[in-house]
Amino acid sequence: MEGSLITDLCTPAMVVDVDVVKRNAKRMMERCQGVGVQLRPHMKTHKTLECADIMTGGSRRCIVVSTLAEACFFADHGFDDILYAYSIPFDKVERCAALSERLSLFQVLLDHPDALELLRKRPLREGRLWHVWLKLDCGNGRAGILHSEPDALLLAQAVSETEGVELTGVYAHCGNTYNCKGVVQIQAVAQETTTFVLQFMEQLKAVGITCKSSIGSTPSCSHPVKDMAQLSEVHPGNYVFYDVQQSLIGSCGLEDVAVRVLTRVIGHCPHRNQLLIDCGWAGLSHDGAGKLPTGNAMIEGHPNLRLLSMTQEHGRVEPMSGKLDYSAYPLGTLLTLIPYHSCATALMHPVYHVHSAGRLVGKWTPTRGW
Ligand SMILES: Cc1ncc(COP(=O)(O)O)c(C=O)c1O
Repeated sequence: MEGSLITDLCTPAMVVDVDVVKRNAKRMMERCQGVGVQLRPHMKTHKTLECADIMTGGSRRCIVVSTLAEACFFADHGFDDILYAYSIPFDKVERCAALSERLSLFQVLLDHPDALELLRKRPLREGRLWHVWLKLDCGNGRAGILHSEPDALLLAQAVSETEGVELTGVYAHCGNTYNCKGVVQIQAVAQETTTFVLQFMEQLKAVGITCKSSIGSTPSCSHPVKDMAQLSEVHPGNYVFYDVQQSLIGSCGLEDVAVRVLTRVIGHCPHRNQLLIDCGWAGLSHDGAGKLPTGNAMIEGHPNLRLLSMTQEHGRVEPMSGKLDYSAYPLGTLLTLIPYHSCATALMHPVYHVHSAGRLVGKWTPTRGW
């Protein structure tokens, strides 16, 4: 209920500090303006209209999504200029065609000639063009055609020469920044990815092709390098919530993390020197398990506690050392978890409780599915 305290919520509950969200969004906008590059924020972390409005400054334009469900959800609510930045799945071409025919700008991504052939075989109505981004792998090691492969240039040429299709841009996601520690390492990966993409753009230019370019991840866009000004766009997303992982990489400080999971003590287990809490992986996700000295999350204000393990609906908490003082944690005690990976944690929740200074101001309901 609006106006009440978050501490009155039934647990487990995900709470979002709207003031921190707005600050994170504003800083990223200002940072991109400072560099001189267009920000195209990714929606995958929160998947909500309210947060999308904050990230786009209310324009409801120029976003990236990771699923077609997100694309449809945002399109149904007046968003446009949407880039579906996922190698176009063969079972979803018809749905992508419908969005391309409906929106003023719906963009897809591919990294294989077979996908291009699929688009060629499904011309859009009323002379519309498929707007296609070529996905490059610049060291991330996930989707994309390797930037240095001659096939990458050949595919770009094929896209630009195919009837009914336009080469809109070249897209590289520098997810390898997630292996970094500190600004120097982050910027080295950001620079390398930028350089690879700019070199590719030069090769395109040499064969008479010009199009946009985009790189990004939350670490690289939190600490951009100057050469990113030569790109058309950047596409970070997690920065709006941040998380413990980002603070360890060096993207942000813990004070920038906008999300928490509230949980309560539901059991005392003196025979194991443990507490039980009502948050298992269904409320936090298992992402990050074993990556922190404090276990699966940080327990705010209790550096002496570790979230040792989780089953679906239970968490086991133990002291970092020594004997647990159970009188300090009576049943019902509220504990606050700072998630390791906010995208994964958010995905576990059907609703986010939004607050300002601990008082509820609303609820955000994310879209789900693919
Ligand atoms: C293709 C793609 N683009 C952009 C992003 C956004 O990056 P980040 O989560 O680091 O903000 C992601 C994140 O996984 C992604 O997979």
